[in-house]
Amino acid sequence: MSVQKWFDVTIKGVDYKQHTDTKALRRYDSNKKYLLHGPKATDPIFRIMINNKPIPNYNSLFNTDYDGFIKILENIYVNDLGFTQDQFLKNYKKNPPILESLYPQWYKTRDCGWLYNTKEYSLETLNCSLYVTCQLEKSGIPSKFSSLIGALNSLELLGYDQKENPKILDLCSGMGISSLMIAKRFPNATVYYNELNPSSKKVFKELLKISGIKNIVVLKSEEVDEDLDCVVGFEAVEHIPTSKFNVGSPYPWLDKFLNQIKEGGHFIYKTMWNSEFNDKHDTLGHFEEYEFDNVSYKKDPNKKNAPFHKAFEKSLFRRGYQRVDGAQSLGNGKVKFSFRSGPYVYQK
Ligand SMILES: C[S@@+](CC[C@H](N)C(=O)[O-])C[C@H]1O[C@@H](n2cnc3c(N)ncnc32)[C@H](O)[C@@H]1O
Repeated sequence: MSVQKWFDVTIKGVDYKQHTDTKALRRYDSNKKYLLHGPKATDPIFRIMINNKPIPNYNSLFNTDYDGFIKILENIYVNDLGFTQDQFLKNYKKNPPILESLYPQWYKTRDCGWLYNTKEYSLETLNCSLYVTCQLEKSGIPSKFSSLIGALNSLELLGYDQKENPKILDLCSGMGISSLMIAKRFPNATVYYNELNPSSKKVFKELLKISGIKNIVVLKSEEVDEDLDCVVGFEAVEHIPTSKFNVGSPYPWLDKFLNQIKEGGHFIYKTMWNSEFNDKHDTLGHFEEYEFDNVSYKKDPNKKNAPFHKAFEKSLFRRGYQRVDGAQSLGNGKVKFSFRSGPYVYQK
C-alpha cells in the first residue's frame, strides 16, 4: 500500500497540500476542485483535479483484479463467441494478429456492412476499449491520460452528479467499458448503449450482467426517443460511411442524436482521425476522405495531421454548439478545465 505523503496545510490563510519530505506545496483552487503546482499551473491541463467520487475500476465493476478481468473476458470470448482459448490469449493484447485477415478486404471494399458483422471485429473493439479509450492499467484503474477519465472528469465538472436522472448516450459503444464506467460513476444517470457489431454486443451484455449495473439501456435500434443531457462518442464518428467509396461522414447520422440533446446539454467526443494514415496500415472502419456538410476534406500528404477535427468542429458550431473545455472557451462558470488526452467538450 502506498504511504500518504501529501497533507493539507493552511499558510497565511491559503490552503495547500504539502509533501512531508520535500515540503513542496500545491495550492488548492476553484473551491478545492484543483491542486495547482509548478510554473505551468495557470494552464488547466497541468492542474490536478480532485474527484468528488472515486473513478470505477475492475474491483468496483467486476469484483476482481486485472487478471480476473482478463479471465472474465476469456470465458466470454470462448463460451459465448466460439473463439478458442488459444485465439483469445493471442489476441487480447495490443495489435491482435487475428485482425491481419481483415485488413486486405477492408482496404479493398471499405464495406462497413461486412466489417461490423465479423466476429473477429469484436477483438478490435476490445483492443480499442482496453488500450485506447480506457487504457486500463494493471493496477485496475483507467489511465489518468485516457479519454474516458477526461470524459468522467468533464461530466463531474459540468455538474452531472447534481442532475436528476441525466440521460447519457454512449455512441458506438463497442464492448461498452465506457458505458459501464459512466453508469457506475453516475448512478443517478441512465446510460444508453448503442452498438452495431453483434459479437461486441454479446461481450457487453455479459459484462453488464456480471457488473450488476442496472442504469444502462441497450438500444435496439439506431434511434433514441428520449431527450438527452449528453452524448459521448469515443472513436465513433469517423466510422460512418457515405454512399461514396472510401468517403466517410459523421453527418447526417450524428444529427439524429445531436437533435435529441436538450438546450444546455453536452456533446463529448474523442477520435484518432489520423490513424488511417499510420505507416502500418492497420486501421479498420476509418476512411481516407470525409465530408462535413457537403464539403469534402482530404489529408495533405505534406502535413502531419488530417484536417478532419477542425472541419467536424465547424459543423458542430454551425449547429449551435460551443466549446466548453480549454482555457479560451466557455468553461463551467468560473472553472476552466482541460484534460491532457481530451476529449473535446461542447455545449448546445
Ligand atoms: C473503434 S470502435 C470504438 C468502440 C468504443 N467506443 C471504444 O472507444 O472503445 C467503433 C465502434 O463503432 C461501431 N459502429 C460503427 N458504425 C456504427 C453505427 N452506425 N451504429 C452503432 N455502432 C457503430 C463498431 O461496430 C465499433 O464497435
